[in-house]
Amino acid sequence: MGDPRSWLCRSLARRASKARGTGTSTTSSRPVPPIQELVRAEMSDPGMTGLEPAVLDVRDLSVRFATASGDVPAVKNISFQVPPGGSLALLGESGSGKTATARALMGILDDSAVVSGSAIYDGRNLLELTDKQMQRIRGTEIAMIFQDAQSALNPAFTVGWQVAEVFRKRAGLSRSEARTRAFDTLRGVGIPDIDRRFSQYPHQYSGGMRQRVLIAIALALEPRILIADEPTTALDATIEAQILDLIRTAHSASNTALVLISHDLGVVAEMVDRVIVMNHGEMVEEGSIEDVYLRPNHPYTQALLEASPSFIGTRAHGSGTGRKEES
Ligand SMILES: Nc1ncnc2c1ncn2[C@@H]1O[C@H](COP(=O)(O)OP(=O)(O)OP(=O)(O)O)[C@@H](O)[C@H]1O
Ligand SMILES: [Mg+2]
Repeated sequence: MGDPRSWLCRSLARRASKARGTGTSTTSSRPVPPIQELVRAEMSDPGMTGLEPAVLDVRDLSVRFATASGDVPAVKNISFQVPPGGSLALLGESGSGKTATARALMGILDDSAVVSGSAIYDGRNLLELTDKQMQRIRGTEIAMIFQDAQSALNPAFTVGWQVAEVFRKRAGLSRSEARTRAFDTLRGVGIPDIDRRFSQYPHQYSGGMRQRVLIAIALALEPRILIADEPTTALDATIEAQILDLIRTAHSASNTALVLISHDLGVVAEMVDRVIVMNHGEMVEEGSIEDVYLRPNHPYTQALLEASPSFIGTRAHGSGTGRKEES
């Protein structure tokens, strides 16, 4: 593989420049600060001190699905803590249990799922709350951006209406107040020509714009935790950079803790402080980005890093991924 140290330096440098508000794209070639400086900056981040009680404390979370062909163990005894305003990634290949973990925390798994363990948020175990109690938390205090942007929006309603509904239903605003807030929110996430776009349906939006709408909905009520499940998977590299910027800005501006789900080592390195590596439902490694990427302990993490030369080749040199362009 390429030199992981220089790769990590580039990712962290991009992140540092974004945090300073000087970054423009993920392919920037500005000078890279020494890694010691970047690591010191990481360690001085309040989200890293571990002194504040976690906003989310997950212990021994397990999920299995009871199917006709037997039990599918999707998540096996994973534990992690998210500091207030901090950030953490669940990193792993397809089928490693990332989405099942997130859906368990949100209380939105299929009926076939059996969940155990605990997830303490605000003194309460999310896994033991009733549907009604979870509904009050979901979307207002803990929000999730789903993996599939297309299906997460209702095709039968205009985008503007769907965003306004969040303010009407969850914040109790009047119809006209909600509409105004929806306008502002959509403009805030960069939907162009909002006067026209407001009354359009999801299928009239590009993939990138739909993802912006989902981010707008997720962040509308300034949740304490945002779970972003592969928020840029279906997007072209340029649009991916814009969407990640949007999430990063919202995360730091509103002190919303970020739980990012991704299989992309580069995205994870740029976005979060800590990472959990999952494999076949197990948490095989946890640590700071620097520890896990530069000193991976588990053979699976080592293999994951070994398998990423394509990332080094494409991202580092700024070529696209051939994925869909925003129109
Ligand atoms: N509703 C379900 N019924 C049965 N098995 C399921 C169900 N949902 C997920 N699984 C299984 O649980 C395991 C973990 O799935 P999960 O969706 O959490 O993976 P993931 O890490 O999010 O993968 P990806 O990166 O592809 O999104 C997989 O083996 C999957 O097939
Ligand atoms: Mg998934």
